[in-house]
Amino acid sequence: AWSEIPLAPPDKILGISEAYVADANTNKINLGVGAYRDNTGKPIIFPSVKKAEQVLLELEKEKEYTGITGSKKFQNAVKNFVFNNSNKDPNGKQLIDSGRIVTAQTISGTGSLRVIGDFLNRFYTNKKILVPKPTWANHVAVFKDAGLTPEFYAYYETSKNDLDFENLKKSLTSQDDGSIVLLHACCHNPTGMDLTVEQWDEVLQIIQDKGFFPLIDMAYQGFASGNPYKDINLIRRINELVAQDKIKSYALCQSFAKNMGLYGERTGSISIITESADASKAIESQLKKLIRPIYSSPPIHGSKIVEIIFDEQYNLLESWLSDLDKVVGRLNTVRSKLYENLDKTNYNWDHLLKQRGMFVYTGLSSEQVIELREKYSVYATEDGRFSISGINDNNVKYLADAINAVVNK
Ligand code: LMR
Repeated sequence: AWSEIPLAPPDKILGISEAYVADANTNKINLGVGAYRDNTGKPIIFPSVKKAEQVLLELEKEKEYTGITGSKKFQNAVKNFVFNNSNKDPNGKQLIDSGRIVTAQTISGTGSLRVIGDFLNRFYTNKKILVPKPTWANHVAVFKDAGLTPEFYAYYETSKNDLDFENLKKSLTSQDDGSIVLLHACCHNPTGMDLTVEQWDEVLQIIQDKGFFPLIDMAYQGFASGNPYKDINLIRRINELVAQDKIKSYALCQSFAKNMGLYGERTGSISIITESADASKAIESQLKKLIRPIYSSPPIHGSKIVEIIFDEQYNLLESWLSDLDKVVGRLNTVRSKLYENLDKTNYNWDHLLKQRGMFVYTGLSSEQVIELREKYSVYATEDGRFSISGINDNNVKYLADAINAVVNK
C-alpha cells in the first residue's frame, strides 16, 4: 500500500534551496546550488542570450519536435566548439571530419550523464565506474540508477585542504583494467581543485595502461579561466592521444547550464568518440533507441539559443564570451573578498585562493555547516561547499563574521 512507502531524504543540493526559501530571516544567504547570482543577489539572463532570444522570436516559425538526438545544427555547433576549439584543434577537426564523433543533445548535464550511464550499462562490458572522492552529489545516484557500480578513487585530502595526487594515482592503478573513469574537465565540483597539465598527463598515462574508458564531465567550461576555449586542455590532450591511437574512445558530457546561464532550459550534450564512422552510425542508432522511450526528444528553446550564438551571421559569440568573462570575474572578486574578511589566526584559508569556479570548498565540518544554517541562516551543502555567487557586497561581511564565529568557537 502507498502508506508503506518510506519518506525519502531531501536532495543534498536542491533540498538546501527549499530550506532557504522557507527561512524568514532577512539576512539569510543561499550558498547551496551552483547557480549564478549577481552583486544584488539576483539571477541573471546573459545579455547575449537575451539577444539570441530576440532573434529567435523573430525567426521562429514552428515548435516542431527536434530529432531524438537534437538538430544537426546544434550537434555541429557543439562539436566545433568543444572538440575543434572553434576551428583551432586539428586533431579534433580530424575526428569530426572522419565521422568519429557522435553528438546528441540531452537534457542538460544530468541528462547526458544518465544517457551515457544507460548506454554504458547496455553496451560496455565493465560496469564499474570510478568517480573522484568527493564528487558532485548527484553522480553516484545517476550512475547507480543507470545500473553501473560507482566506486571512489582518491582525489582530495580534506584534512590538508588539498589535492591528494599520490593517492589518486595509487587508487586508480589498483582498480580493475577496463573500468570506466569519470574525470571532471575543469572546476572540479565540489572542491574547485583541478589537476595541472602535468598531472593530467600522468592520469592519462594510467588510463592508457589500465585500458580505462574515460568519461569526461564538463559542466563548468569557462569558469576556470573566464574563457571556455582555455578550459578544454584535457579534451585537446585526449584528442591528441586519440590521434596517436593511444586512446581509442571516450565520452564527454557537457552542459550550457552554467556557461550560458541556461539552467532551466536543460541544454547540454553527450558526445561519444568512436573508432570509426561505421561504429558512430551504430552508436547513434542505439542512442536514439535508448532516448526515445525515456523522453522522446530534447527541448528546443535552449538548443536554438545555442545554435544562434554559434551562428556567425548573428555576431553574438564575442558578446557571449564577454558576458561569461564578467560572470567569472565577479566570482573571482567575491572569492578574494571572502578570503580578506576571514580570520586567519586559527585557520588557514589559503586553499580558497587555489580553487576555481562557482564554489569554495571550505573544509568546514558538517556540524559547522549546520551551525551556520541554524544560527546565521547561511545555507550551504553539508560537505562544506559554498556556492560563492550567493556572496555580494552587502553580505560578505555578515557571512565572514558568521564563519569566523563558528570556526573560533
Ligand atoms: C550544483 O552542483 O549545485 C549544480 O550542478 C546544480 C545541481 O543540479 O546540483
